[in-house]
Amino acid sequence: MYEAQKLGIKYLTAAATLFGVMIIFGLLSSLYYLFPGMLYNIFDFNMSKTMHIDTLVIWILMGLMGAIYYYLPKELEQEVVGVKIGNVAFWVFCVSVALVAITFLFVQMGQANEFSLWFINQGRKYVEAPRWAAVGITAIMLAFSWNIIATCVKAKHKMTGILWVLCLDLIPLVVVYLDAYPADTNISRDLYWWWWLVHMWVESTWEVLIGCIMAWVLMDVMGTSRKIVEAWLYIEVMLVLGAGILGLGHHYFWIGTPDYWLSIGGFFSALEPLPLLGMVVHATYDAGMHRLQTANRPAYYWITTEAFLNFIGAGIWGFMMTLPQINMFSHGTQWTASHGHFAFYGAYVCGIIAVLYVAKQKVAGVPTLGGHRWKWAYGLLNIGMVGMVMGLLLAGMAQAFFERAAGGSTLMAYTIASENPWFTSGLWARTGFGLLFAAGYVVLVIDLLKKAVPQEKTAPAPIVAHAQPEPA
Ligand code: HEM
Ligand code: HEM
Ligand SMILES: [Fe+2]
Repeated sequence: MYEAQKLGIKYLTAAATLFGVMIIFGLLSSLYYLFPGMLYNIFDFNMSKTMHIDTLVIWILMGLMGAIYYYLPKELEQEVVGVKIGNVAFWVFCVSVALVAITFLFVQMGQANEFSLWFINQGRKYVEAPRWAAVGITAIMLAFSWNIIATCVKAKHKMTGILWVLCLDLIPLVVVYLDAYPADTNISRDLYWWWWLVHMWVESTWEVLIGCIMAWVLMDVMGTSRKIVEAWLYIEVMLVLGAGILGLGHHYFWIGTPDYWLSIGGFFSALEPLPLLGMVVHATYDAGMHRLQTANRPAYYWITTEAFLNFIGAGIWGFMMTLPQINMFSHGTQWTASHGHFAFYGAYVCGIIAVLYVAKQKVAGVPTLGGHRWKWAYGLLNIGMVGMVMGLLLAGMAQAFFERAAGGSTLMAYTIASENPWFTSGLWARTGFGLLFAAGYVVLVIDLLKKAVPQEKTAPAPIVAHAQPEPA
C-alpha cells in the first residue's frame, strides 16, 4: 500500500469517528424540539446544533480528502508528493477539531468583539469555528491541494481525465473557503458572500469531487471502463457548473438582494437536478453493462445508492422548494431541514461509506467482499434517514401551510403552527427514525472493524481485475 493510501485511511477513520459525534449531537438537537426547556442555559439548542452541523462539514471534508488520498496513487501508480506534510496536516486538523469542540462545549459564546471572533465562535452557520481554526483549515486545504496538484504535475505523462477535473476543481474549492472569514456588519452583504461558500461547496465543488470519487469507485468495484466513466464525468461536471453557479440565486430570494435574483435563481436552480439525473443513468448503465457483477458488494450498493439519493435528496427535494413562488412559503421551515438532511446524506454520506468499504477490502487483502452484516447497516441507515426526512417534510409542509399560507406569517400563526399535530408528530418521527439511523451507524462501525467476509459462492463471478487505462 502507498503511504498516501495509509494517510487516506487515517482521514477516513477520523471521518467515520466524527460521523458518530455528529449523530450524537443530531439526536440531542432533536430532543429540544420535544422537551423545549431541556438543558436551558447549560447547553442550549444553538450550541448543540452548531456541534451537529460543524462536525458534519468537517467529517465530510475529511472523508472526501481521505478518498482522494486513497485513489490518487492508485490512479498514477506512484506515491503522492508531500505525504509527510499531509501527515502533519492530518494531526493538526484532528487537534484543531478537538480544541474547537472543547470551546463550543464549554465556552460556547463570548462578547461581540474581535477576541470572540478569533478564539470562540465566528457565528456563521456551518463554519462557526473561530478564526484561528479557519486559518488552520485554509492552510490544511492549501497543503492538500498542493500535494495533489504537485503529484499530478510530476506525473504529467500519466494524467487522466479524472485528474484534470480534480485538479481544476481544487482551485475554487479553496478559494470559496476564504469566505469563511466574516468581514461585514451589513447582514445582507454578509449573507450574500457566505452563500458563495455554503452553496458553491455543496452544490458545485464538492459535487465535482464526489463525481470523481464515484468514477474511481465504479472502475474499482465493477471494472467499468475508463472511457465510460470519464465521458459521464465530463457531462456531469458541465451540467453541475452550468446550473450550480447561478443556481446560487435560490438563496438570494429573501435576504435583501435585487429582484432579478428571483428569476435567475429560480431558472438556474431548476436545472440543477439534471447532472444528478446524469449520475443515476451512469450508475445504472454501468450496472447493466456488468450484469451487477462486482468484487465489493457493499461498496457497489452504497455508490449506486449515492447516485439515486443524490438525485432524490438534492435534485427532487431541492427542486420542490427552489421556485420563488413555493419558497415564499417553505423558506426556512423544517421542509428545508428535510432537504438538507436528504441531500447531504445522498450526495456525500453514501459515497464516503462506499469508499470506507473499498478501503476495508484493501486493508483485509481479500479478492471479494460480501457477507450479511453490512446489509443491516445499509437497511437501518437508509430507513432511518428516509424516515427522518419524511417526518421533517410533514412538519415543514404543516408550517408552510398553517403558518405561512393560511396564517399569514404572523407571530400568532407561528405559535399555532408549532402546536399543530402534523408538525409535532413529524418531529417525534424525526427523533424515532434518528434512533434507527444511530443504530445503523453502530452496525456500520462494527461491520467495518470485523473480519472481512468474502462473497458467497452463489453470487455471480466477481470482477477482480481493475480497469486498465485506455491507451492514448
Ligand atoms: C440521528 C440522526 C440525526 C438527527 C436526529 C438530526 C437532527 C437534526 C436537528 C434537530 C437539526 C436542527 C434543525 C433545526 O435547526 O431546526 C439538524 C440540522 C441539520 N442536520 Fe441533522 N440530524 C441527524 C443526522 C444528520 C445527518 C446524517 C446529516 C447529514 C447527512 C445531517 C445534516 C444536517 C444539516 C445539514 C442540518 C442543518 C439543516 C438546516 O438548518 O436547514 N443530520 N439535524
Ligand atoms: C448535494 C447537494 C445539496 C446539498 C448538500 C444541499 C443542502 C442544503 C442545505 C443544508 C440547505 C439549508 C441551508 C441553510 O439555510 O442552512 C439547503 C437549502 C436549499 N437548497 Fe439545497 N442542497 C443541495 C442541492 C440542491 C439542489 C440541487 C437544489 C435545487 C434544485 C437545492 C435547493 C435548495 C434551496 C432552494 C434551498 C433554500 C431553502 C430555504 O429557502 O429555506 N439544493 N440545501
Ligand atoms: Fe443552494
